[in-house]
Amino acid sequence: MRRVIIAGNWKMNKTISESIELVNGLKRELFGVESIDIVLIPPYTALSGISDMLTDSNIELGAQDLHWEEKGAFTGEVSPVMLKDVGVKYVVIGHSERRTYFGETNETVNKKVKAALREGLLPIMCIGEHLEEREAGKAFDVIEDHLRGGLKGIAGEDALKIVIAYEPVWAIGTGKTATPEQAEEAHKYIRGLLAKIYDKTVAEGLRIQYGGSVKPENIKELINEPDIDGALVGGASLKVEQFVPIVKGSLKKGA
Ligand code: 13P
Repeated sequence: MRRVIIAGNWKMNKTISESIELVNGLKRELFGVESIDIVLIPPYTALSGISDMLTDSNIELGAQDLHWEEKGAFTGEVSPVMLKDVGVKYVVIGHSERRTYFGETNETVNKKVKAALREGLLPIMCIGEHLEEREAGKAFDVIEDHLRGGLKGIAGEDALKIVIAYEPVWAIGTGKTATPEQAEEAHKYIRGLLAKIYDKTVAEGLRIQYGGSVKPENIKELINEPDIDGALVGGASLKVEQFVPIVKGSLKKGA
């Protein structure tokens, strides 16, 4: 049985004081929710403070990116060692915004996934097609390319530690969610590919999250799909009154 994982990717939002307010609200409202994994992914500047706030809580900490080197002359970058040091458990890798605006490729994603695993961090590896690719009938080719590229050279036992986030780019921040059927179709396809790349154990054990305009109104129908194991939430993770019902709407599956 795969454990449900609901993660809030705050992207480039929240000052320290805003972060503290949000985390206090979430801790209060989500106290005692233990049957699923809840992860907050704030900007780097808030990691240390939030890490302290989450000590002994049921909520875990994630980061939005990392560099693959351990240390050195890489101005502006943050290493896996540093993330581990601040108490991070999960790290988002290859988000479509990183691929689109900052030149991430399958090769850099693959290096980052390997570096995260080396340091004992759990990667949330993002994959997904653009609208033009879907309209051209190429969605599944893109998914396969991102998946195979990102997982290159990674052994099955390590792959099991990875969470795949399927985020169709046309659904991110647009209010246009993939239908549960469209999302399930993609997730099932990804699981089929994992069985081909690895084996049944990896395909059945690895968690696949859906991301793209997840809201309190659509979480239940998404999470009810057999191959959807959670959500990577953007905009709706910035407000207590939206993130809490998303977490609670996923509990039935996690119970
Ligand atoms: P939205 O939920 O704002 O569409 O963002 C999804 C996302 O990119 C999460 O990583």
